[in-house]
Amino acid sequence: MNAPALEVHMDADDLARTLRADVIAGLTADSKWLPPKWFYDARGSELFEKITELDEYYPTRSERQILHDHAAEIASHTRARSLLELGSGYSTKTRLLLDALTAAGTLETFVPMDVSPTALSAAATRITADYPGLRVHNIVGDFARHLKHLPDGGDRLVAFLGGTIGNLVPEERAQFLADVRSVLDPGEHLLLGTDLVKSPRVVVPAYDDADGVTADFNRNVLRVLNSSLDADFDLDGFAHVALWDADREWIEMRLRARWPMRVTIPGVGLVVDFAAGEEVRTEVSAKFRRDGVDRELDDAGFALDHWWTDRDGLFAVSLARAV
Ligand code: SAH
Ligand code: AVI
Repeated sequence: MNAPALEVHMDADDLARTLRADVIAGLTADSKWLPPKWFYDARGSELFEKITELDEYYPTRSERQILHDHAAEIASHTRARSLLELGSGYSTKTRLLLDALTAAGTLETFVPMDVSPTALSAAATRITADYPGLRVHNIVGDFARHLKHLPDGGDRLVAFLGGTIGNLVPEERAQFLADVRSVLDPGEHLLLGTDLVKSPRVVVPAYDDADGVTADFNRNVLRVLNSSLDADFDLDGFAHVALWDADREWIEMRLRARWPMRVTIPGVGLVVDFAAGEEVRTEVSAKFRRDGVDRELDDAGFALDHWWTDRDGLFAVSLARAV
């Protein structure tokens, strides 16, 4: 089978430039941090898929249940001709939407956008085989920078699933939602998955599983720096930390230096010292309440038409309309 065509807005130069800028900004800051989008090379994308299958990781199965129960309603409410999926990964749950929109007879085009070309290609190969007649337009891009490359055409439904919006800090979220709104016409729709606030006894194990898959995923960002920037991070020297921040209602993933280390990163000409116990923040994963989601959507110019949760009230999917 032919490899699927990818429309690439992040070529090798662009990737190298943005990775270098992020590493310099994050690892020279007083409190060190790295943006989560650098987890997702081929190995990171596969590790995330493994996370979705863990007993402890409730978000994926909860969102799948909601989509299973409401996909037909989403299809009849939106009558979407194009489904545009941001941070699509392997688009596994998205099939429930593709099935419902195909059954409704409206769907013509599927446009997944992701930073991970390997996840996009794997998804596109399977989806093209399983949905004959569906036009699949794959975009390798950053949803914080490349939304303007989404096709126009009317009757579009943008899906942002998995709770990935929680990986943006509040200012990034507001900008992202405003950007999505600005590419849509009034009456077009956004389907948004958000993980909900709940006991840390449930949330923390989802980000610190017994098999250590999430720890491996977290450390993968160091592997990416080693391979892309010729850095010499010793992965065993960093412990995985998942911490619930009760004030901000988010999980923070961090990597904590087990002993003092000096790391050289020739790709950016940096030497970075880590004290024993020093941490690098690698991800936030915000958890939401209905009021907050409603307010953030409203601020960006969306009206919340539907709010669905799974039977255990762990996760929510919102269907919002551009006004
Ligand atoms: N939507 C899927 C995958 C979620 S994992 C699900 O619900 O299971 C997050 C996905 O977003 C990954 O595939 C990752 O590669 C992608 N991603 C992360 N940051 C991104 C960015 N800035 N722009 C585009 N894609 C991004
Ligand atoms: C992609 N994103 C919604 C996941 C999350 O739950 O925040 C990423 C992840 N990080 C650790 N486990 C999964």
